[in-house]
Amino acid sequence: MTATRTRLVLGNWKMHGSLADNAKLLSALLAAPRVASTAQMGVCVPFPYLAQTAQALTGSSIAWGAQDISTQAQGAFTGEVSGAMLNDFACRFVLTGHSERRAMHAESDQIIADKANAALVAGLTPVVCVGESLAERDAGQALVVIARQLAPVLALGADAVQKMVVAYEPVWAIGTGRTASPEQAQEVHAAIRAALRGVGAEQVQILYGGSVKAANAASLFAMPDIDGALVGGASLVAEEFLAIAS
Ligand code: 13P
Repeated sequence: MTATRTRLVLGNWKMHGSLADNAKLLSALLAAPRVASTAQMGVCVPFPYLAQTAQALTGSSIAWGAQDISTQAQGAFTGEVSGAMLNDFACRFVLTGHSERRAMHAESDQIIADKANAALVAGLTPVVCVGESLAERDAGQALVVIARQLAPVLALGADAVQKMVVAYEPVWAIGTGRTASPEQAQEVHAAIRAALRGVGAEQVQILYGGSVKAANAASLFAMPDIDGALVGGASLVAEEFLAIAS
């Protein structure tokens, strides 16, 4: 069938930035003429910079969001940030289950599904990240791992899943300069698409992430099931990020 999915290019600033550096980056993004691009752009920034980002980007075509969300609505959860708080800054997106949070904060597949659900309850778009480690890939387990990671998310049902974005980020390609080949990525994206189709959510955007740069973005986007990118390091450099989205 014909793909009707809009290309989506999201930056994940991770734990980078300062008020001064962000001001420069955001104004460089805003200054660029984007007439030729049909891609939707967005940036997922550290919590303390949501106010600055919202102020800079309000009224522009660039969306913004956060990098994590609590499963809880409110209460004694020190250090956590709720969906309602993200709404106070007009966030559109929130990353859930980034591999760095899975690895460093022991977030389980179920916790990540709960976070995706919390985002939906707040009216935010969760960007559910999945991806295998190098050991899992070498053991031929990539698709099994992705299926396991997705299972509790898909269990939320078609109505919920249709409002999500999925990002495939192989752990071995993140920050390493080693991108998955377009064919390697497409194989996994096709499997994710099949799983989404299985729950009636075939048109969900599936982003690729892991060392995406201006030099490799076009070959990735040429694949039928790669609908955009989740960009780490290159999203901190305005020209690179803009070139990826152009
Ligand atoms: P890099 O683009 O720096 O490899 O990071 C990818 C990523 O983790 C985006 O969420």
